[in-house]
Amino acid sequence: MLELILPAVVACAESFADVPESTLFPEESEALGPARHEGRRREFTTVRHCARRALADIGVPPVPVLPGERGAPVWPPGVVGSMTHSAGYRAAAVARSVHVRALGIDAEPHAALPGETLGAVTRPEERERLAALAADFPRVHWDRLLFCAKEAVYKAWFPMAGRRLGFRDASVTFDPAGGTFRAEIVEGAGEEPPAPLVYEGRWTAGPELLLAAVVVPAGPAGIRPEPAAPRTG
Ligand SMILES: CC(C)(COP(=O)(O)OP(=O)(O)OC[C@H]1O[C@@H](n2cnc3c(N)ncnc32)[C@H](O)[C@@H]1OP(=O)(O)O)[C@@H](O)C(=O)NCCC(=O)NCCS
Repeated sequence: MLELILPAVVACAESFADVPESTLFPEESEALGPARHEGRRREFTTVRHCARRALADIGVPPVPVLPGERGAPVWPPGVVGSMTHSAGYRAAAVARSVHVRALGIDAEPHAALPGETLGAVTRPEERERLAALAADFPRVHWDRLLFCAKEAVYKAWFPMAGRRLGFRDASVTFDPAGGTFRAEIVEGAGEEPPAPLVYEGRWTAGPELLLAAVVVPAGPAGIRPEPAAPRTG
């Protein structure tokens, strides 16, 4: 599912179940810590199994992927990447930094956001757009998809910026037919933004799962977003 929304220079691997034979490097076990519950251990382990599969696709041998500053994964030199886990789903995406400056992926259950969460993660103009989308395309839970898109943006933003970003610091607009979205950082970046202020992303909606991905090209000669395929959920 994830490969549908990523350009070819990004390698990805996903799993819809935990992989019993996957193992952690000792440094990863130490980073995870002994007190974690079983579900956390399984998602942490399986997503790293996915990461090592994706890394193999770009020619990188198995290495530990440790949580770094504020939980952002630390990739080998010359590599950028992102990981996500949701109920029944784990995925990792990686690319060479000559092609991609940053990337972010996120998965969420395809269900409505709790009402109180919606207000906390959206801007007024986004709530207007969500209402219109819900009326025109009721099969997609646009509120949860917006949350998913913002988390994907954050996972690309943070490694570049080294700074947190609030949910209401970004304004997301969806193209419902094209399977794309655009996120503009409208607050919180400061006077000298440490990272791009506009992110082009893609999304897909399955019966139980929403996925969003943003890919920041490495430079003027970097990749361009691919033509979008229709996504109807
Ligand atoms: C960090 C965050 C985005 C993770 O998203 P999530 O839906 O809770 O969890 P997911 O399973 O999808 O992703 C978890 C993975 O994200 C990655 N991650 C964690 N912190 C990260 C960070 N600061 N930067 C980049 N990636 C990060 C890790 O790989 C983590 O997996 P791991 O713990 O097994 O290594 C979320 O918890 C968060 O803090 N959000 C608030 C900030 C935000 O999203 N703002 C929106 C601005 S528009």
